[in-house]
Amino acid sequence: MSDQVLIKGAKLYGEGDPVDVLVSGGVISRIDASVEVTEDVTVLEANGQVLLPGFVDLHTHLREPGREDTETIASGSAAAALGGYTAVFAMANTDPVADNAVIVDHVWRRGREVGLVDVHPVGAVTVGLKGEKLAELGTMAASAANVRIFSDDGLCVADPLIMRRALEYSTALDVVIAQHAEEPRLTVGAQAHEGEQSARLGYAGWPASAEESIVARDCLLAEHAKARLHVCHVSTSGTADILAWAKARGTRVSAEVTPHHLLLTDSRLDTYDPINKVNPPLRTGADTEKLRAALAEGVIDCVATDHAPHAVQDKDCEWTAARPGMLGLQTALSIVVETMVRTGLLDWRGVARVMSERPAEIAGLPDQGRPLEVGEPANLVLVDPETEWTVRGGELASIAANTPYEGMRLPGVVSATLLRGRITSREGKIS
Ligand code: DOR
Ligand code: ZN
Repeated sequence: MSDQVLIKGAKLYGEGDPVDVLVSGGVISRIDASVEVTEDVTVLEANGQVLLPGFVDLHTHLREPGREDTETIASGSAAAALGGYTAVFAMANTDPVADNAVIVDHVWRRGREVGLVDVHPVGAVTVGLKGEKLAELGTMAASAANVRIFSDDGLCVADPLIMRRALEYSTALDVVIAQHAEEPRLTVGAQAHEGEQSARLGYAGWPASAEESIVARDCLLAEHAKARLHVCHVSTSGTADILAWAKARGTRVSAEVTPHHLLLTDSRLDTYDPINKVNPPLRTGADTEKLRAALAEGVIDCVATDHAPHAVQDKDCEWTAARPGMLGLQTALSIVVETMVRTGLLDWRGVARVMSERPAEIAGLPDQGRPLEVGEPANLVLVDPETEWTVRGGELASIAANTPYEGMRLPGVVSATLLRGRITSREGKIS
């Protein structure tokens, strides 16, 4: 295949008349009303579809090393490319934990070998995710993987002194501390959002205040340390209020929301099906509504999947024994179209902002989330905005199949993804 790709008739950011976009040498080399097709160019017929910068996911669980029975860097990279992603951040809660340069370099190198998406390892904040002793952030930042985001995700850095030290240390390295905000004393044994539904079903509750109290505390710690804090998977209306308050004060805080917290609510728990078990838990309709508005307004900066593959035996069991988490990479765009575009809350510029530009800025990636202009790196996604598809967990590229959207018809199909000018997925197939 030639290294030139001609995208014919695409609407940049879904706006204006369709144009032809020529990609050569890994960059956008021409944008014109019409570019002639030559023999040595691969043509993608866009037919008026939407061209956006490739998506960037700040929160992915790839499970390698340790749980390759549920996802590998190869299978997760395929899911990412099919979902329109050109960069993903792989969380540190692997086995062994990514708390040192050897592991993060392995993840980074394996991602390059697979070559479907840039896999950036997230480094652990504390040794073994134990929350007791800072990991060697500096060594991981200086390694080949060039770690820029640190997180104990899955667990909260609960000790305020450890969190304070991590934030202080992060400023010297110019890196971000991403917090899984969950005060562990308030969520002992928790199974579901604390409210009417958890009371009715008899599940121990996960109160909104367990998230909000940590977010408030960490915003204050970040402000004092002049550090950069990123709040993972915001799930409550109150957290959105705290973020708005902190941002108005000039705190260097950013935040993400997952597709599932934009769409799903705890009303789904009626079935007792652990496919709906996730951490933080599905909340109420009032929360999803507030989260959508906060994302539209920029109080929440971006969408991140929290793609969390789990084996059948860890999901298809009694609720309390099931692991929390849901697949997300191949359904994220469709959920954003359903909750944000169809509702008129975001246009396609807005989608580019929350799925590509802001996450790339937060992570400090110079070559992602770039404008669709001549000379820019060709990290691109072509989206068919209207066509609907039916989700089938077994047909997704992940090894695990735990999607909560099984059988749902959703709008928005990824037609093609390009990484540095190379087509990584096309018409639902890896290429
Ligand atoms: O639902 C979740 N699953 N939340 C987390 O914080 C961790 C994740 C996982 O690793 O499975
Ligand atoms: Zn988390």
